[in-house]
Amino acid sequence: MDCNVRPESMARITTKALANAFIDEQVAAIRAEVGDKKVLLALSGGVDSSVVAALLVKAIGRQLVCVHVNHGLMRKNESEDVIEIFKNQMDANLVYVDATDRFLDLLAGVSDPEKKRKIIGKEFIEVFADEARKLEDITYLAQGTIYPDILESQKQAEGKKAVKSHHNVGGLPEDLKFKLVEPIKLLFKDEVRVVGEALGLPHAMVYRQPFPGPGLGVRCLGAITRDRLAALREADAILREEFALSGLSEKVWQYFVVIPDIKSVGVKDESRYEGWPAIIRAVNTTDAMSATIEEIPYTILHKITARITAEVDGINRVLYDLTPKPVGTIEWE
Ligand code: XMP
Repeated sequence: MDCNVRPESMARITTKALANAFIDEQVAAIRAEVGDKKVLLALSGGVDSSVVAALLVKAIGRQLVCVHVNHGLMRKNESEDVIEIFKNQMDANLVYVDATDRFLDLLAGVSDPEKKRKIIGKEFIEVFADEARKLEDITYLAQGTIYPDILESQKQAEGKKAVKSHHNVGGLPEDLKFKLVEPIKLLFKDEVRVVGEALGLPHAMVYRQPFPGPGLGVRCLGAITRDRLAALREADAILREEFALSGLSEKVWQYFVVIPDIKSVGVKDESRYEGWPAIIRAVNTTDAMSATIEEIPYTILHKITARITAEVDGINRVLYDLTPKPVGTIEWE
């Protein structure tokens, strides 16, 4: 039987009891496969890699080595949260790499979105490979592959074209040959979340909204600059805070801020003040292939606008993107 095909008899994991049964089964399977060997995992802090990390910590403890690469394009506090949860609370064997300068130096002056994606994807693999070479006796590589990833690559293999190139840790250099461990590869996203909660991961991490691999890099439009990236990170944090306070974070699938590479004229302290516009995007979708716009109450939009323009240096306007997908993609780049 093809182990990349979900058997029809496999029950959908919808309850904690079913999740616990899955966890027990996987823990036994991982221990049997891995024995006393070491496993490497690129831990981004996303739902899938976090659930795989928690599952492997349960199965093999410190035989799992997690590498968290901060590419400098993370949202506010994301890397800090990864360290707190996995290193401090779960006692995972975690290597933290701050590669911000490597990424931002390579991206300086690059404005084409696909070129940015390629640079980020390639550099991610290089940083990860550099760390992997420093480690000794690693036999396995764990990945947070989930069932939709398998279905999507089958579709691409059949010749259907992807709109954007998504990246994960594929294509490691020749000298790094690992055996793969992919314990959640037959699960759908909703099942991964149920398993994550059963493993004791925080609700906010398990129900984290999707975040693209290239991170804020495709939301700081055009050529990325450190000052605009910093403004984006702060504005995005305010948006997320206000969505959480108003309960919108439970209702909206993906919401974020985008900052284009343009300035408009404003006034501050009775003087001319040129600043960037912050664009808010909030969409609902089931499969990310099409998306509708969430109608955000004006009171909330006013509050977010007031906070962003008052609290974030360099932003003097806030706009709300009303475009569904199609015709606009969810991300601007
Ligand atoms: P689009 O912009 O294509 O986005 O409508 C659909 C979903 O995919 C996410 N996205 C990405 N995810 N790497 C990723 O891992 C990428 O390069 C990338 N580009 C878009 C996007 O956030 C949305 O959830």
